[in-house]
Amino acid sequence: MQVVTTLEELWQARAGLPGPVGFVPTMGYLHEGHLSLVHCAKEACASVVVSIFVNPTQFGPNEDLEAYPRDLERDLRLLREAGVDLVWAPTAEVMYPPGFQTWVTVEQLTRPLEGAQRPGHFRGVTTVVAKLFNAVRPHKAFFGQKDAQQAAVIRRMTRDLSYPIEIVVCPTQREADGLAMSSRNTYLSPAEREAATVLYRALKTAAAAYQAGERNAETLRGLMREIIQAEPLAELQYVSCADYDTLEELQVVEGKALLSMAVFIGKTRLIDNWVLD
Ligand code: PAF
Repeated sequence: MQVVTTLEELWQARAGLPGPVGFVPTMGYLHEGHLSLVHCAKEACASVVVSIFVNPTQFGPNEDLEAYPRDLERDLRLLREAGVDLVWAPTAEVMYPPGFQTWVTVEQLTRPLEGAQRPGHFRGVTTVVAKLFNAVRPHKAFFGQKDAQQAAVIRRMTRDLSYPIEIVVCPTQREADGLAMSSRNTYLSPAEREAATVLYRALKTAAAAYQAGERNAETLRGLMREIIQAEPLAELQYVSCADYDTLEELQVVEGKALLSMAVFIGKTRLIDNWVLD
């Protein structure tokens, strides 16, 4: 496995990789969720490239950029074991040269849900992912369903900017008790970790109601709200039952829909979602 930092090194290493080339962009501190993306990429592609970059422009001023967990040595060991061919771990100066002022924005899709709570977040994500795509030039790129809005926004960007890249969205990886895997789970105290299962419980309850025939979106949102609000360590930021493609809130679930939520457990902000199909 080759590990490179500069763009020149990346271009040179990338030129020698047999295609199709699969790409898994990450912010490091890897868990089973990331590794499942690597496994999907390995199954579908002849070579796999992973990037590790904690992207400062997608963090808000009061978010956890400084505290975001990092462990490059461990990440490299896991990627080597997973059979990755090339890791690109650029510095902030490589990604954002002095005087940087060019941004990629997806408009409508970034307004609701995460976009409404985290102004500027998706502008940071789409800008860095566009730059990563330009540099790596993969045939397929792999993202997790856990960040459902991010996946939708990247799909839109890829279509709008005519990238010849297939976006593959892989299922959310969960702990045995249902908690969606996330690097931020490491912030949780033991009591908070237990309370954090409330997101999964709320989603499962609403999904079961849907399975039983409930189609009123406000009833589904209400069910999730009630469960979150009954957990003393949880503070609900939003619950949503939205159209899967446009992410607009629904009144009645008719086609494919997305249940999603953001919840603070103590100081840690967690998100999760469930697709109704
Ligand atoms: O999902 C993430 O880890 C990040 O948002 C991404 C796609 C690597 C961009 O920084």
